[in-house]
Amino acid sequence: MPRSLSHGARIDYDTVAAGYDSQPYRQKEVDAALLAYLERIPAHKWPLLRVLDISCGTGNQLVADKAAITGPSWVGSDLFYGMLAQAQAKDKNISWVQADACGMPFVCNSFDFISQQFGFHHIGPRSMMLREVYRLLRPGGCFVMTNIAPQEMRQALLYRYFPEALDVDLSDFVSPDTLVAMMKDAGFSAVELSLDRRVSQVDLQDFLKKVQPRDNNSTLMIISDMAYADGVARMKRDIGRGVGLHVPTETCILTLSGEKND
Ligand SMILES: C[S@@+](CC[C@H](N)C(=O)[O-])C[C@H]1O[C@@H](n2cnc3c(N)ncnc32)[C@H](O)[C@@H]1O
Repeated sequence: MPRSLSHGARIDYDTVAAGYDSQPYRQKEVDAALLAYLERIPAHKWPLLRVLDISCGTGNQLVADKAAITGPSWVGSDLFYGMLAQAQAKDKNISWVQADACGMPFVCNSFDFISQQFGFHHIGPRSMMLREVYRLLRPGGCFVMTNIAPQEMRQALLYRYFPEALDVDLSDFVSPDTLVAMMKDAGFSAVELSLDRRVSQVDLQDFLKKVQPRDNNSTLMIISDMAYADGVARMKRDIGRGVGLHVPTETCILTLSGEKND
């Protein structure tokens, strides 16, 4: 199973890289946290800044940032070559570097702003990654992590149809409170956590398209074949029975930031 990949990764992203961007929700707007960081820096100093996106995947965040912001140098790193190949095809003037987030080939104090989006649950020794990010930040620099918080979204449609997925995610996603403690242990100051909870209604037919093919969602690739088949069959039965247009679901997006003292 994917959990036994030799490099310890949760799933093999080389196998999904080519289709990763097919879902519209993979596209990115310019990073609001980066804009907020830049507001604190005089614009004439922006060309001295270095921005790193860890677990950058197919590069969408950095490509959106670079199109909107002139000045900084941009670096994206990811463990999987297939993801970086997709990124490289979008912009050859961004440095795309293959590296495990727990040990990156950069000298100490080399980045002003580091982000990681929807990647932390894939990392092996997580406290090691946080210490590595702290090492790479310049004094005064800022790290911002974004992810879902499964602990706060147990009524999500995904988990109602695939209960095994909730078990997997609760074990792979560190709880928000623990994350804050881990950031402080790694040396970060001004640690801030925000949770953005949203309840919405979705069309079950559209939701079915999100879970098929299965590799649209990394957690669905980890649960048992039986649990996946059972969830899809129940969803199809419900659609057949006319359940469907306004089905409630919930999400919770976690944003965690911290700074390295001057
Ligand atoms: C859900 S994707 C997120 C990609 C991108 N940040 C985004 O928001 O679309 C998770 C990413 O983590 C990467 N990844 C997995 N294990 C990693 C590791 N040990 N070090 C760095 N990146 C890793 C995967 O290759 C994948 O690109």
